[in-house]
Amino acid sequence: MYLERTERLRTGDVVAQSIRALDGTVLLAEGTRLDERLISTLVRRGIPAVQLRDGLADDIVPERVVSDETRSRTAVSLKRVISGLQQRTLAATTDDAASPTGVEETARRLGDRPLPLSEQEQRDLEGLQRGIESIVDEILDGGAIGSLTSLKSHSDYTFQHSVDVAITSTLLAHLIGLPRAELRTLALGAALHDLGKTYIDLTILDKPGALDPEERREIERHPRLGFELVKRLPLPSILPAHIALQHHERQDGTGYPNGLDGTNAVMRSTAERLDRQRMLLVAEICAVADVHSALSSDRPYRPGMPPERVQAILEDMAGPHLNTEIVTLFLAGVPLYTAGTWVELAGGSADGWRGVVVTSRSSSLDRPVVRVLVGPDGRVARRPEELDLEHHPEILIRGLPPGDPLPERSMEPASN
Ligand SMILES: [Fe+2]
Ligand SMILES: [Fe+2]
Repeated sequence: MYLERTERLRTGDVVAQSIRALDGTVLLAEGTRLDERLISTLVRRGIPAVQLRDGLADDIVPERVVSDETRSRTAVSLKRVISGLQQRTLAATTDDAASPTGVEETARRLGDRPLPLSEQEQRDLEGLQRGIESIVDEILDGGAIGSLTSLKSHSDYTFQHSVDVAITSTLLAHLIGLPRAELRTLALGAALHDLGKTYIDLTILDKPGALDPEERREIERHPRLGFELVKRLPLPSILPAHIALQHHERQDGTGYPNGLDGTNAVMRSTAERLDRQRMLLVAEICAVADVHSALSSDRPYRPGMPPERVQAILEDMAGPHLNTEIVTLFLAGVPLYTAGTWVELAGGSADGWRGVVVTSRSSSLDRPVVRVLVGPDGRVARRPEELDLEHHPEILIRGLPPGDPLPERSMEPASN
């Protein structure tokens, strides 16, 4: 199977993996043959890409660090919590909430006490905490092998992005060695990190080009607004609110909203721990996970970046922006290419060939086993071979963006 951009779908294409709405209901079942009507439905719903059968690697199931079931359950609870909160608090948010005084005014209107939740809202919040618990369980049980991102549909992007950030943050904190209770607090904060964003106009959030200064100010209010809301939720810790507040701060002090800074290290002295100018470790972890998710996700206006491009950008951002030690741990602990990823090989006997990752291993993170399928001339191998790149150091590998593996959709068998 391979991932195809929705705008390139054709009548007759067969769906390889069911497409689900956020609540888990199946929009298109696996095996559905697409027609004009179904394709326009996918376009209308803003689904950026679809897994299609190609008759080549349909048996390779993409690995995920956390099951789709847990992802979907957590995303639904999160959406319920956020929608409930929005109805309750919209009246309190001022029109001028983009300015710091506007956020302060909103906070004043919300009052000092925890928000009084209805029974339903309380149940939704408990549902979210159960979802978080499952994420932590699955990561502690399963380790780091598998994809960290999910397929996202447009209108639900913020919720699915938030769940991805919760998963990646938990995995990072586990790699760092934080205890279970901290993983739970961090995952909850990461799930709620962009709560303030759900109060911002979608036309600004999804704008593909550069933002004007006013739009930028509008976006930059979301950490403060998120902080004011999360701290009024009946949660066992204040840390999730601080994660929402600090996730856009940077190591060199140029982030927002408070220009906090960091020392690019995981360990910190007691003095640093008490320093109010210093970013919290949990917020630094969330910042790395946030950037990783944003770069690797498919959006309606651009496909997700291939893994080595994401890696290069994370490496560039380590130091001035992201905590270097956390980025290093991440790149050293998470496989670059996971099962189901289409890749292109260069060098040796496989020069110019394309194929699909069959397995990735924690022992050799950037050298997976690849089933070699499509030749440099676009022809498909008659008897595909599996190459273990660990044993072929001369072969280079790079990820392919959606739709690239078979540019001509040439399915003619090659003569080899
Ligand atoms: Fe954010
Ligand atoms: Fe985010």
